[in-house]
Amino acid sequence: MSNERGQFSSRFGFITAATGSAVGLGNIWGFPTQTASHGGGAFVLVYLVLAFLLAYPALMAELIIGRHTRHNMVRALPQLTTRPALKMFGRATGLYGVLVASLILSFYAIVAGWLMAQVPAALVNITGQPADTNWFAQSSLIRDSLFCALFSVLTAAIVARGVKDGIERWSTRLMPALVLLMLGLVATVLTLPGAMEGLRLYVVPDFSLITNPSLLTSAMGQAFFSLSLGVGTMLIYGSYVSKTDNLPLTGAYVALIDTGIAFLAGLLIIPAMFVARHRGIEIYSDENTLIAGPDLILQTLPELFNSLGFVGAFIGLIFFLLLSIAALTSSISMLEVPVTFALEQFKISRPRATGLVASIIFGISLLILFNVEQLFGTVVTATTKYSQPLLGVMLCLFAGWVLHRDKLLGEISEGFAGAKESLFWKIWPGYIRVVCPLLIIIMFVQNIRG
Ligand code: PHE
Repeated sequence: MSNERGQFSSRFGFITAATGSAVGLGNIWGFPTQTASHGGGAFVLVYLVLAFLLAYPALMAELIIGRHTRHNMVRALPQLTTRPALKMFGRATGLYGVLVASLILSFYAIVAGWLMAQVPAALVNITGQPADTNWFAQSSLIRDSLFCALFSVLTAAIVARGVKDGIERWSTRLMPALVLLMLGLVATVLTLPGAMEGLRLYVVPDFSLITNPSLLTSAMGQAFFSLSLGVGTMLIYGSYVSKTDNLPLTGAYVALIDTGIAFLAGLLIIPAMFVARHRGIEIYSDENTLIAGPDLILQTLPELFNSLGFVGAFIGLIFFLLLSIAALTSSISMLEVPVTFALEQFKISRPRATGLVASIIFGISLLILFNVEQLFGTVVTATTKYSQPLLGVMLCLFAGWVLHRDKLLGEISEGFAGAKESLFWKIWPGYIRVVCPLLIIIMFVQNIRG
């Protein structure tokens, strides 16, 4: 088996794979729950602004470095410079990215396992069995480990097949299915009594909340997580993009689709909460904060689905199927990071590299599962809240200061003839040199202080 570099077969292939990576639990779970805990419309508005002001430029930095170097992050960053110290720093940053991607996958597979278990749980509901005898619906160490293992095996099986036959093929199948399922669900939920109250909360911002520092930092972290930034995922996908593709445009599609699907997910879940309330299910945890986090997805929503009888059981089935699909197209992109590293570093075959890396990460997942109280939250915070934005800054700095301006323009011009005169070229380089890193660092400091 050779370890030749793969390539996406078309721009459509790349866009589905990259949006497959971007659209995941971050969109369907993270975004709506964060919206719920930060008062609705205000969070939505800030998120939309930050996604385009911060996350899109950072995404471009990764895609451009990736396509320019055609390597994984550990090799790509040193390649941008001839200065030994900077080379070493680039390597260390790359390794940090590989570590963070692996750790994100280790908790992501646990959450995905919880969600996947809800699929057979919904099937059991459809058969009419009482909820408390439903083994799949209740968390237990055995159930969680088994479903985490199942999810890890599925992820590894796709990654082992490579870029075109695995990642691209499955993303192009799964992503359109996801969008269709989601549209169907939104249309259904919006017709139910109570939904309009949720819709109002979702789309009408309370402007007094907008300057709240916790809302701002959460929205930034959420945007970085949602676009899969910082850990070298987008860099590696960029390295598989053809030189004939217009990168700024392709990147813009990815950012737009990712944000659009997060918005749709909120349009589903926030109104669904108020439908639940209308049916007597508690959706406020105290005086005025909406239930958020795992309880919202794993308790409130299933309660709502159950209260809707037979139709509800079907809606539940589709909803959790949708979450599992979204999680899978993201997890393959996370696993791709350490796998490509192992593959390029140790010159082993793709299936072997995948088996090895996936086993180690599953080991970490088990370690977290068996020590959920102590480890789960810590790993999530350390990776997504701190490491991702920090790595994002590094990548912006490497693209802006280390990669030579002529090379940068040369790379952008591939597949984009008018690059030099474009608005993108006028704004973006200065933007990722100064504005982006500064904004991220300011929010990051607030994050630590908060
Ligand atoms: N973007 C994915 C999501 O929204 C998560 C992810 C993070 C994927 C980092 C790859 C790398 O769920």
